[in-house]
Amino acid sequence: MPRVRTTKALAQRIDLNYFKRPIPLRRWRFWLCLLIPLGCFLWIGWKLAGRDFQPYSSGPLSAGHVLLTRDCTTCHVPEKNAVFTEHASDQACKNCHDGPIHQLAQAREPECGSCHVEHRGGARLIATSNQSCAQCHANLETKPGSSTKYIKTISSFNTDHPEMAVFRGANPRDPVTIRVNHFVHMKKNLLGPHGSVQLECKDCHRQPASREPWLFGSAEALPVSAPVATPAAGMKADLYAPDPGLALMSMPKFAESCSACHLLQFDKRFSEQVPHDKPDVVHAFVVKKFEAYIAAHPAELREQPEEERRLPNRPAPPAARVVTPAQWVAERTKEAETLLWGKTCRQCHSITITEGAPLPKVADANYTLHWLPHARFDHDAHRGFACASCHPNALTSQDSAELLLPKLATCKDCHAPGPSHVEARCFECHAYHDWSKRKGITPTFVPRALRAQAVDLIPKPAGQ
Ligand code: HEC
Ligand code: HEC
Ligand code: HEC
Ligand code: HEC
Ligand code: HEC
Ligand code: HEC
Ligand code: HEC
Ligand code: HEC
Ligand code: HEC
Ligand code: HEC
Repeated sequence: MPRVRTTKALAQRIDLNYFKRPIPLRRWRFWLCLLIPLGCFLWIGWKLAGRDFQPYSSGPLSAGHVLLTRDCTTCHVPEKNAVFTEHASDQACKNCHDGPIHQLAQAREPECGSCHVEHRGGARLIATSNQSCAQCHANLETKPGSSTKYIKTISSFNTDHPEMAVFRGANPRDPVTIRVNHFVHMKKNLLGPHGSVQLECKDCHRQPASREPWLFGSAEALPVSAPVATPAAGMKADLYAPDPGLALMSMPKFAESCSACHLLQFDKRFSEQVPHDKPDVVHAFVVKKFEAYIAAHPAELREQPEEERRLPNRPAPPAARVVTPAQWVAERTKEAETLLWGKTCRQCHSITITEGAPLPKVADANYTLHWLPHARFDHDAHRGFACASCHPNALTSQDSAELLLPKLATCKDCHAPGPSHVEARCFECHAYHDWSKRKGITPTFVPRALRAQAVDLIPKPAGQ
């Protein structure tokens, strides 16, 4: 007989008195409602009694401060009668490290925590927002009684940031006095000391920390008085060590970058060159050379008239002339120096010859080693990029006075907001604190996380 599944038969399966049977959880419900909150209060009370405020934290601390996770009150110094305060005091920060002021002329001093935003986890605390700077720079004000020469409306790098100061004048020029033609030197097949060469930027400019050998500072051509890379006596030492690091490029020195191709010969009697030095040193060298020479070759005091000067319709030249050694040296020196000051040195230098003065004056090289005094720039952070990608005119410039620096538009190709670009917030290129005003602070505080170890670190007296 087939089974009949009527609705009634199915309904009879349900126990209509199910709610009258005791459920084990219901008995517990009352107690759970009571005990769980009580447990929480007890836990919080216990933490409070132990002065542990972690339960109140609004997020994990930054990497630099993780050690302080159990020491909330180092920053949140409780005001009187309070156990905890949400406000972090500037003085608390300064108990551990100074945050010196930005500018003497600043109208007010923002709180440390307004820029160094805490409780965001491992992020770098110095990665401050544009807003932290724009709070003043979007509409720059100075202390009463002071003014500023800087542009007053800057809110982000990619919108309203001004051009570098060097480019802002009517006719921006490089004040350098050394003449060099970048185009001529960068072209293919330049005549080098042993045949044609292709120069690279690093043959003349490199990071001072570089230890590569100089290819065009030939040892034979170097001044007798000065070895490679050290300043000749009387020259400015700071030209030689612009920066101990890798950030800026050095400017070329004759001894390292020019001497192998540009020889300082002064007379065909000598294979030696004059030292690359001040005119008085060069003069003393030349005089000494000729004096020694004439002492060894006295026959040359009797000068033979030169063949080619004897033209048919001119009077016969005087017979051989005999001069004193002093006269001979003076005449040869004058010839050599006319060539040196007028041509050899003048190829690269601005030379002033004053009427009556025995020696000319060589202008200061006047190199600029740091073009951006108000920003930071680091060549080493950009070492993956070709020099000409930022300095394209260095391949074409024919004029030393032309500025070869990139404008800020070049920086914006890479430094822009968004994931496919590099950092463009203000802190990347500028400092805020004037670290020259830093005050030394002796830390007196050992974080809780280190206290146990700190005890262990104190050496125990022998015998214990
Ligand atoms: C290195 C210093 C530092 C330490 C340590 C620190 N805080 Fe903060 N905390 C701050 C700063 C800065 C602020 C920003 C608010 C202000 O200064 O007004 C802040 C804000 C807060 C706020 C307010 C909410 C907010 O995010 O603005 C709470 C709540 C808080 N902290 C709790 C804690 C607790 C709990 C601890 C310990 C676990 C702790 N903090 C440890 C620096 C610190
Ligand atoms: C108990 C001592 C202590 C207190 C208080 C303290 N700091 Fe620090 N801070 C440190 C230590 C330690 C470091 C890590 C130093 C390091 O990395 O060289 C650090 C690092 C930093 C850094 C550099 C972090 C980075 O990412 O490079 C900044 C910025 C800073 N603190 C700001 C603050 C501010 C703002 C306050 C106050 C709200 C504060 N600190 C309070 C001890 C303290
Ligand atoms: C207007 C924003 C701003 C304010 C306000 C501010 N800072 Fe800074 N701070 C910065 C920036 C940007 C840097 C990174 C550049 C630099 O070194 O100047 C920095 C760097 C630091 C560093 C060095 C981090 C490192 O290891 O190089 C410390 C420490 C520091 N600040 C502490 C403080 C303290 C303490 C205060 C409050 C007295 C404070 N800051 C106020 C923006 C600010
Ligand atoms: C409290 C206001 C204030 C804040 C915040 C502020 N600045 Fe300034 N800043 C000034 C004033 C004022 C001057 C002009 C000083 C003068 O002319 O002597 C100035 C000048 C400058 C200069 C040019 C002078 C120099 O020394 O290089 C730079 C660059 C600069 N600020 C960068 C920043 C950056 C980056 C930030 C954010 C981390 C910032 N400022 C935050 C007030 C502020
Ligand atoms: C990618 C690098 C970079 C970023 C990001 C950047 N700057 Fe600059 N800033 C520079 C350079 C380069 C100069 C030129 C410095 C000079 O001429 O000495 C400059 C100059 C300045 C000056 C001096 C202006 C003047 O009148 O001469 C101020 C002020 C300044 N920046 C503030 C800011 C502020 C505020 C931010 C963030 C909103 C910012 N900068 C972001 C690179 C940067
Ligand atoms: C590899 C060899 C080489 C090196 C290194 C070299 N030069 Fe030259 N330089 C030459 C040659 C070759 C010429 C002539 C090019 C021509 O006229 O086509 C020249 C020409 C010049 C001129 C005349 C340019 C003109 O407008 O005609 C100056 C100025 C000059 N060099 C300066 C320098 C300085 C300064 C250095 C070092 C920083 C230097 N050179 C390094 C090979 C070199
Ligand atoms: C091929 C180019 C070149 C020639 C030729 C040359 N110099 Fe120089 N001179 C330089 C360069 C580059 C510098 C800057 C760096 C250095 O000191 O080497 C310089 C620097 C100097 C300085 C130092 C300037 C300062 O700022 O203090 C003096 C002095 C000097 N030269 C004298 C001479 C004399 C004298 C001659 C000729 C005998 C001469 N130079 C020939 C390239 C040249
Ligand atoms: C990302 C762009 C960039 C690249 C790539 C770059 N430079 Fe620069 N260079 C600059 C800026 C910006 C300055 C001005 C820096 C300053 O003086 O503060 C500069 C300055 C210079 C100076 C003048 C001296 C100085 O350091 O101020 C020389 C020389 C120089 N660069 C050569 C080179 C050479 C050689 C290379 C390749 C190895 C190179 N640069 C690559 C941007 C760049
Ligand atoms: C033969 C040597 C030599 C070579 C090679 C050379 N330079 Fe120069 N450079 C100089 C001299 C000398 C100066 C100073 C005179 C001047 O400013 O023109 C200078 C100046 C500069 C300056 C700063 C001054 C300004 O006016 O902006 C930059 C930037 C520069 N060079 C970049 C380069 C780059 C990039 C290359 C490679 C593409 C390069 N140089 C190749 C000799 C050289
Ligand atoms: C071709 C892309 C490119 C260009 C153009 C460029 N940068 Fe950068 N810059 C970078 C990269 C990549 C870094 C490394 C990022 C990092 O380490 O976070 C960097 C880092 C920096 C830093 C930080 C250096 C450090 O030591 O942390 C500064 C400052 C900077 N750039 C300034 C400039 C300025 C000023 C210009 C324009 C003259 C410029 N950059 C042009 C790609 C570029």
